[in-house]
Amino acid sequence: MAIDKKFLNLFIKATEKAAIGASKFIGKKDKIAADKGAVDPMRRELNKINMQGTVVIGEGEMDEAPMLYIGERLGTLNGPEFDIAVDPLEGTKFTANGQPNAFSVLAISEKNCLLSAPDTYMEKIVIGNGLPKNLMDLDNGVENNIRLLAEAKNKKISDIQACVLKRPRHDHIVKILNDLKVKINFITDGDIAGALSVIGDKPKNDIYYSTGGGPEGVIVAAALSCYGGQIQGRLVLNDEEKIRAKKLGITDFKKKYNIDDMVKGDVIFCATGVTSGDLANGVKDLGNEYEVNSFVLHKSENTIKNIKNIYNK
Ligand code: FBP
Repeated sequence: MAIDKKFLNLFIKATEKAAIGASKFIGKKDKIAADKGAVDPMRRELNKINMQGTVVIGEGEMDEAPMLYIGERLGTLNGPEFDIAVDPLEGTKFTANGQPNAFSVLAISEKNCLLSAPDTYMEKIVIGNGLPKNLMDLDNGVENNIRLLAEAKNKKISDIQACVLKRPRHDHIVKILNDLKVKINFITDGDIAGALSVIGDKPKNDIYYSTGGGPEGVIVAAALSCYGGQIQGRLVLNDEEKIRAKKLGITDFKKKYNIDDMVKGDVIFCATGVTSGDLANGVKDLGNEYEVNSFVLHKSENTIKNIKNIYNK
């Protein structure tokens, strides 16, 4: 079954209001206030929608207000049942420091169609569309994956562009990429935008290769399931996190999740810019109004569009 297209604008409104809320904290050096600035209006908007929504990807796993926590019920509880993956503010640091690429993001599917993953790390490889299915495998190792990708794209290895989240835990990946003479575009944060930089008509990168947030991995999978492109992810779990994962129904802790393991059926994806970035322009304060810009996808409707809206203050 498809998600009725009437829901698209309602979900866009939720990320728009969250983005406006967070924008009040741009450059104010307060990550927590910026996050709360996004969470509260997002929850308010989602609770107005005639749906029975459940957060399956959220910011926490219990009743940890002000977060939108896994298991939280949202909507009027009248209407279709949806799984909701939410990151009210992706790029809390970017917002606090007034840097690009902060946005508010939501992905929605029908009930039981999105992987419910704990808020832990996930190893990820992401590539764009038009490539053989399941081309990449985390167990191949970096060098083999890059060779396979170059061959499939009919490119020289030295023409491959890889996006990597700059963290010491990725030094081994960076070393291999450097040895292969792959061009590396580092990001300092924000691995949803990093991962999605492999899609589009003229993608900035051929591959995203890093360990970032698990929730962000599922949100990326939701976008790719609408847009094309592939992800493989594997949760990184310590003993305490394994207990949390088990509570969410995960028993195979080493499972490699391909896109179909993370997302099934129809999906809506909305991302509204807080600061300007690769996915959308940021919130513009026009005096008496705010201008907001979103990147939205609806799989069953083949919708891929950028939307601009104005809100009175
Ligand atoms: P927040 O905006 O929610 O803080 O996340 C930013 C982020 O860069 C994610 O995009 C990424 O998945 C994760 O943090 C990486 O985590 P860490 O900073 O611990 O390496």
